[in-house]
Amino acid sequence: MMKILVEKDIRQCVGVNQTAFNAVADAFSRLADGKATVPSIVRVDVPEFNGEVDIKTAYLHGLDSFAIKIAAGFLDNYKLGIPTGSGMMVLVSAKTGNPEAVLLDNGYLTDVRTGIAGAIAAEYLAQKDIHTAGVIGAGAQARYQMRGLKLVRDFKKLLIYGIIPEQVDDYIREMSAELGVEVIKAESAEEVVRNSEVVVTTTPSKDPYLKAEWLHPGLHITCMGSDSEFKQELYANVFSKADRIVCDRKSQVFKLGELHHALEEGILTDSSNVTELGEITSHKKTGRQNDQEITICDLTGVGIQDTAIALLAYEQAEIKGMGLDLDA
Ligand SMILES: NC(=O)c1ccc[n+]([C@@H]2O[C@H](COP(=O)([O-])OP(=O)(O)OC[C@H]3O[C@@H](n4cnc5c(N)ncnc54)[C@H](O)[C@@H]3O)[C@@H](O)[C@H]2O)c1
Repeated sequence: MMKILVEKDIRQCVGVNQTAFNAVADAFSRLADGKATVPSIVRVDVPEFNGEVDIKTAYLHGLDSFAIKIAAGFLDNYKLGIPTGSGMMVLVSAKTGNPEAVLLDNGYLTDVRTGIAGAIAAEYLAQKDIHTAGVIGAGAQARYQMRGLKLVRDFKKLLIYGIIPEQVDDYIREMSAELGVEVIKAESAEEVVRNSEVVVTTTPSKDPYLKAEWLHPGLHITCMGSDSEFKQELYANVFSKADRIVCDRKSQVFKLGELHHALEEGILTDSSNVTELGEITSHKKTGRQNDQEITICDLTGVGIQDTAIALLAYEQAEIKGMGLDLDA
């Protein structure tokens, strides 16, 4: 039997909430415990249309199924009035290899699991009391990252900087109502960074814009926009001002994330002190130690997150009796 789940059902099964937080945090812990098989990412670049399609997957040892995900990011889609991100997942039985479900989520599950990774980073790395958060970019992840942050920190004010004014206006209207906080348009990325206690960078920028001299004691930055070698949001020397550097998976961020540029420019080496998020969720290493530390978490998105969130969607759909069951 094969279950087909469509986006509107999946949205009723999974959201940016504590259940998803626990599932994704558990997946990071399993990765750190050596209980995950994570193949390399397959990426198809389509430069003619400013796009890429990634295939990500991971088997979490002991779990009944694992996800294989196809995720697209086509940056010019906004000109067509459609989202940049899309995709789907297939859930495969870890016992028989048989496909069990097709999750036609249109990229929703990727958005949620990425927002949750940001929430996990903030839970362990941000100061406990946050008044002002900041976000750079005004697209899907600017929304999901702030939903994730609100789950773990009760911030009151949100500064946003984006380069397309209409997107920023839409964001302010939507997110001030949804989060119940004051959302304010900043005139520059510098204004956001200098005046926030937590900043999340969510753009596909190819040119770095976030400068080391804007950092201040107590700041936490999550950078999640760069997930391929030609993207970069932070100048590489930003990392030389960080007291604590964390990432989702070292082997990925040193190739695809911000840390790839820091490595290339000699700001860091292979043996620099970089902690994986799972080492913190599994209590092998510690997060922030005081209110003065500057912390940075580099996220590129790991297949373990996809398996965790797809399994959650499937389990919830089974409980709620949702989806179309077909004889394959
Ligand atoms: N790390 C992960 O796990 C992960 C997961 C999903 C997406 N991503 C990446 O995150 C990025 C954002 O994804 P999205 O779905 O939110 O895209 P999106 O297109 O919905 O939003 C991107 C936003 O950034 C803005 N922007 C672009 N360049 C900018 C700049 N220099 N300064 C300020 N704003 C700028 C755009 O105008 C837009 O508002 C992409 O690079 C995507 O590949 C990473």
